[in-house]
Amino acid sequence: MDRIIIQGGSTLNGTLHISGAKNAALPLLTAALLTEEPFHLSNVPELADIRLMIELLSQHGCVITSQNNEVTIDASAVENTTAPYDIVRKMRASILVLGPLVARFGKARVSLPGGCAIGTRPVDIHVNGLQKLGAQIELSEGYINASAPDGLVGATISMPMISVTATENLMMAATLAKGETVLINAAREPEIIDLANCLKSMGAIIEGAGTDRITIQGVDRLKGTSYSVIPDRIETATYAIAAIITQGELTLCDTDLALIPTVSEALTRTGAIITPTANGFTIKAGSGPIQGVDVMTEPYPGFATDIQAQMMALMTLSNGASMITETIFENRFMHVPELCRMGANITVHGSSALVRGVPYLSAAEVMATDLRASVSLVLAGLAAKGDTILNRIYHLDRGYEKLEQKLTDVGAKIERSKAPAEA
Ligand code: UD1
Repeated sequence: MDRIIIQGGSTLNGTLHISGAKNAALPLLTAALLTEEPFHLSNVPELADIRLMIELLSQHGCVITSQNNEVTIDASAVENTTAPYDIVRKMRASILVLGPLVARFGKARVSLPGGCAIGTRPVDIHVNGLQKLGAQIELSEGYINASAPDGLVGATISMPMISVTATENLMMAATLAKGETVLINAAREPEIIDLANCLKSMGAIIEGAGTDRITIQGVDRLKGTSYSVIPDRIETATYAIAAIITQGELTLCDTDLALIPTVSEALTRTGAIITPTANGFTIKAGSGPIQGVDVMTEPYPGFATDIQAQMMALMTLSNGASMITETIFENRFMHVPELCRMGANITVHGSSALVRGVPYLSAAEVMATDLRASVSLVLAGLAAKGDTILNRIYHLDRGYEKLEQKLTDVGAKIERSKAPAEA
């Protein structure tokens, strides 16, 4: 199994390209199921999760070509409407085929995603919403069996919690439903706006994406499109934190500061200096010590849960203390014991972690159980004294395109190697 070795202590300086957003590309790929015409996406990051989604769509019968961050999908000959357990269990976002399949083919059989390292993560909002649109749904043998032989019918759906992928699933389903659908308490993430823009370019009629109330007028059919994925705001924030934690200065290009309003505000309060540029921004560590800042994760535009672990890594080196509260997922502090093994001083009280800054972190052999926790250990390793060894890096490959190359190009000492065989 591969691992990453980071020799800490290098200051990062230079320019770093931000890839297309994984969490925008995944729903956009499934939107291809809504049309029989060719569907082309550009700025698609090359990641394990994207390859898995392509595998899922291929087994449905899509014909797909993919190279150089471009993906073309022909879903004209799709016949298989089953998303099997073997793929869905590896990636929760597989649930995003449910809405498009039922909307275009009147049926779908999608495995329940099951448990996940960062909490129970149910799919009730997806299922109840589709029922509101007239689908008959039966849960049996670990599968969601959905059918709407006469098509879906628009409805008003008030979602009990803000869910990103449920909003995406229901928005896609509603594009081909008869009549008007109103999604109330919708997620407002930039990835929702991106999906709506792509669907509109296919002929969908959607208003209000980016607000908590989205209205969709169903149409009979959608056409093909050519669309470019928005920049990855989580990758953007991660590398912004890398600049600060190494006392460096990075110019992040092909991104947009407007995608991370709350995070950039929090980073400024740590003392960092952020300057917008024509196609991104420059971020420079402040001249004094890193200031402790309290953050609480919230749905967009609040502080993203996907940046909580990276922010915590930064706060371990602050001058003072920071309270980090997680409100989205119930078990998202798995990076805490690993950061503590590197010398961090963190105490968890329920959904809050009190991080008391320490003067330095020490390298250790660490591992993580999810994507963002893994990258928080990379950030800690960049700043730590000595060589940090990060195991289980397949999590990183799910969400960070060319991580070692990007970091090496700006001065990090980081390399991938094979772990020695276990005795
Ligand atoms: C998406 C992101 C993920 C991010 C998360 C929160 C993608 C592919 N993934 O995940 O990276 O961490 O948003 O910003 O975009 N919930 C229910 N019932 C449901 C659905 C969700 O109770 O049917 C709960 C979840 O358990 C969680 C909360 O709603 O507590 C938010 O989850 P949700 O927004 O659905 O996360 P995902 O869309 O899975």
